[in-house]
Amino acid sequence: MSATTDDAELFARAERLRAEGQPGEAEALYRGILSRQPRHLAARRGLAEVLATLDRTEDAAAAQRDTQAQEVENLCKVARAALKHGRFEAAITCFERALELEPDSREAIKGLAEAWHRRRNLKKALGWYQRYLELDPGDPEAEHMVAALGDGPQPPQASDGYVRSLFDRSAQDFDQTLLEELKYRAPQILLEAVTAVLPPAAPRLDILDLGCGTGLAGLQFRPLARRLEGVDLSLEMIERARARGIYDALRTAELTAAMAAMNKKFDLLVAGDVFIYLGAAKPVFVAAARALRPGGLFAFTLEWQRRPGYKLTGSGRYAHNPAYVRKCAQAAGFREVSGTDFQLRLEFGKPVKGYVSVMRKA
Ligand SMILES: C[S@@+](CC[C@H](N)C(=O)[O-])C[C@H]1O[C@@H](n2cnc3c(N)ncnc32)[C@H](O)[C@@H]1O
Repeated sequence: MSATTDDAELFARAERLRAEGQPGEAEALYRGILSRQPRHLAARRGLAEVLATLDRTEDAAAAQRDTQAQEVENLCKVARAALKHGRFEAAITCFERALELEPDSREAIKGLAEAWHRRRNLKKALGWYQRYLELDPGDPEAEHMVAALGDGPQPPQASDGYVRSLFDRSAQDFDQTLLEELKYRAPQILLEAVTAVLPPAAPRLDILDLGCGTGLAGLQFRPLARRLEGVDLSLEMIERARARGIYDALRTAELTAAMAAMNKKFDLLVAGDVFIYLGAAKPVFVAAARALRPGGLFAFTLEWQRRPGYKLTGSGRYAHNPAYVRKCAQAAGFREVSGTDFQLRLEFGKPVKGYVSVMRKA
């Protein structure tokens, strides 16, 4: 018999003893079950009840608190699973029930913010992110989303903490979500754009993959590379890129700071769907100019916007006007050699307009 089956027998015996007025014996059995299965909610409830019967008021109150905390944990777990599968109403109901039990449950509050955001009720999402910030001031994710959804000042780029927490959390499902659900095509489009501007029979290149993620762009560019390096803020993403075995070197770092410390080391910089976390483009090009050899190329994609400049949008990502990016690049000594609109990926089933550019350093 398995430990779980044994515990089922023991739980039934504990319930009988409790009903027959033998709370002391029942307590020992409940505690035994909980030592092996701390998340056994019914055993927690049983324990709280027998302690109350035994008039051990403080112990009973502590057991009652533990029961409630377990219920909140269970509800949030179910809600997270629902959220993952796009069942927003179900997720919201479970998170709300968790909040009734524990009004300051951070997990339920952040869950509600995410659920309303994905349900496209941006006003409610903003309210829940603001509530979260009251409890945890400085939380990078809530700060970023309040900036994206509110009308306060916008940061010039997503904070390192936000990028790390977002991608450490999504690394596991990244490839499947991007390729299968969101029809992500930036790496192939970038390769086509770069190949089109390279001379025939060009020698192999020293390439730096900026915001390399799990290595989807690296996979495309490996055949062109003499040496392929990658940089990314998220350790979880880097680990997945490493597992592909296609990079000569990988480092966990902020990409602008990393490039600023380089001395004309690369022939080609690639940034697939990374400017969506970088708002102000000028510092990126100034740093890129340090990392590239003369005549080197910088190939990247943008989420396109009509209005001038750049904007942190309600999605939590930055969109850019290509004319603004060109201006920043020119100021740092680059000239655009190709620039084309394309479909970057899907968002809520609708195509997101992208722009792919290749710049050459003078
Ligand atoms: C949408 S993913 C794209 C990954 C990869 N380029 C691809 O095409 O699949 C964006 C990646 O950029 C990284 N990133 C965002 N901002 C960064 C920064 N300032 N420095 C380094 N990495 C950054 C994220 O951690 C994430 O892995």
